[in-house]
Amino acid sequence: VKSKLLIANWKLHKDLPEALGWLRDLKSVFPEPPEGVTLVICPSFPLLPPLHAELEKLGWLGLIKLGAQTVSGFREGEYTGEVGVRQIKDWVEYVLVGHSERRRLYGETDDQIVRQARLCLEEGLVPVVCVSDQNQVASLARTTFSLGRLVVAYEPPFAIGSGQPDTPESAGKFAWEVKRALGPAEVLYGGSVSGENVAHFLGRGEIDGVLVGGASLEAGALVEIIRGTYALL
Ligand code: PGA
Repeated sequence: VKSKLLIANWKLHKDLPEALGWLRDLKSVFPEPPEGVTLVICPSFPLLPPLHAELEKLGWLGLIKLGAQTVSGFREGEYTGEVGVRQIKDWVEYVLVGHSERRRLYGETDDQIVRQARLCLEEGLVPVVCVSDQNQVASLARTTFSLGRLVVAYEPPFAIGSGQPDTPESAGKFAWEVKRALGPAEVLYGGSVSGENVAHFLGRGEIDGVLVGGASLEAGALVEIIRGTYALL
């Protein structure tokens, strides 16, 4: 069975001691890194270098990857406050792009999101482009991306942080349509994923992984999601 992608989006949570404590908690349950799932942690930018160093020390870099929560659509220049792909690529393999909170709270447009994804691919990082409807998928489909791995996360806004996930049927149908539009993209589901419902989503062949917000903040809740994933492997 193909390994499932499990991405933890910590949003604006955790300082460094809390993040290191989370890793210690995870390690107390899994002395060895969990196999069969690719776990990606997306903390705030300043935590990337120290978490990378800690994962290296634990010998866990092979199985736990780091991701950024966003990145600039500009390569470099006069863009105060931006963080560019080249500045983070030593620490991350994945980048969340166009999360619905970025679209809604910071007005990120499809064009900016496509630029971010393109820069990630050019620098060898994997963009995880978050979408909530087929129009956003169509804007990706109109774009020519340089060769690389593209991941699309289907996250309906009503399901984010609400405890009301979409149905596995509807998520599976969306994933199927993304694959029809984009070809070889991997598709994740996100929105109120928990240890109880994760297997319903991952049990569908079209869904290659999950993007988890709230339930990734406590290592114990994420452990339940990993166990729910194992039940399928
Ligand atoms: P949630 O968030 O798991 O808390 O619903 C998902 C997300 O925003 O990526």
